[in-house]
Amino acid sequence: MEIKAYLNEQRQIVEDAFQTYMLEAKGEFAFHIESMRYSLFVGGKRVRPILCLAAAQAISPDSTMKTKVLPVCCALECIHTYSLIHDDLPAMDDDNLRRGKPTNHVVYGEAAAILAGDGLLTLAFDLLSSSYADKLEPQQRLQIISIIAKAAGSPGMVGGQALDIASEGKNIDFETLKTIHRCKTGALITAAILAGAVAADANDTQYQALEQYGKAVGLAFQIVDDLLDVESTTEELGKEAGSDVKNNKATYPSIFGVKQTKKMANEAVEEALFSLTHFDEKADPLRELAKYIVTRKK
Ligand code: IPE
Ligand code: IPE
Ligand code: MG
Ligand code: MG
Ligand code: MG
Repeated sequence: MEIKAYLNEQRQIVEDAFQTYMLEAKGEFAFHIESMRYSLFVGGKRVRPILCLAAAQAISPDSTMKTKVLPVCCALECIHTYSLIHDDLPAMDDDNLRRGKPTNHVVYGEAAAILAGDGLLTLAFDLLSSSYADKLEPQQRLQIISIIAKAAGSPGMVGGQALDIASEGKNIDFETLKTIHRCKTGALITAAILAGAVAADANDTQYQALEQYGKAVGLAFQIVDDLLDVESTTEELGKEAGSDVKNNKATYPSIFGVKQTKKMANEAVEEALFSLTHFDEKADPLRELAKYIVTRKK
């Protein structure tokens, strides 16, 4: 399997779904919706939706699976995009470039950017509860909404972001660093995989294995994000390289150095691969995605 072609193909599926689900920038809220669309459609790897699809298809690759999970995929990407808009705000990481373009607040102003984030977060739950998602059983939908709400909220992403901000310029211990990474980034990535598992009616063993996979790739994803911040360029990343140093962030490279950090990222991916031991070739995309997450260049 060729990961690049696979990613392009899956990304296109997500883009097509968004054409159906996303609000149009017209009517009295055109400016607000335009600001949401700007960040959503300005680029982005769509890793979380792709992981959600891949997890569902690792269990049940039938053709109806896609229609079941695509609203969930788009909801996940809305939440992720909102988190990026808020993460870039002057009060947070204060960055001016995202997905290769000026950040939302640079284009639309701070108030509009905050509201674009609010709109995207709320739209996610609208999508999950709307008729778009009615191919899922009511019980599955409730479970998916609960998984995503917890992961995006205070016990997950928002809590992780709060801890990240509170830790700027401080010497924090390894446990706290792991908590930041697991929560601010790992939680939503794990939720994407678990949502796919629920949609595909995973049994308990499969669910637990996928949870282990999700936690491992989620951690690896943020470790690599930290590495790219020090090793890559603004041009390559499409966001400001060196942002973590600028903000005195607690990161893996700042605590362990680049070499040890790479080793830790690879170990997390090994753990992710190990967790899929009892899955057959239907999980090959998940295996390739785990490897991609540590080898990616942006
Ligand atoms: C960046 O996420 C922020 C983190 C949580 C590490 P991505 O690297 O997935 O960003 P996009 O969506 O491709 O822009
Ligand atoms: C952000 O972590 C995690 C989010 C929840 C958005 P970073 O602050 O490291 O993400 P980037 O590097 O700005 O994309
Ligand atoms: Mg940040
Ligand atoms: Mg940031
Ligand atoms: Mg970063």
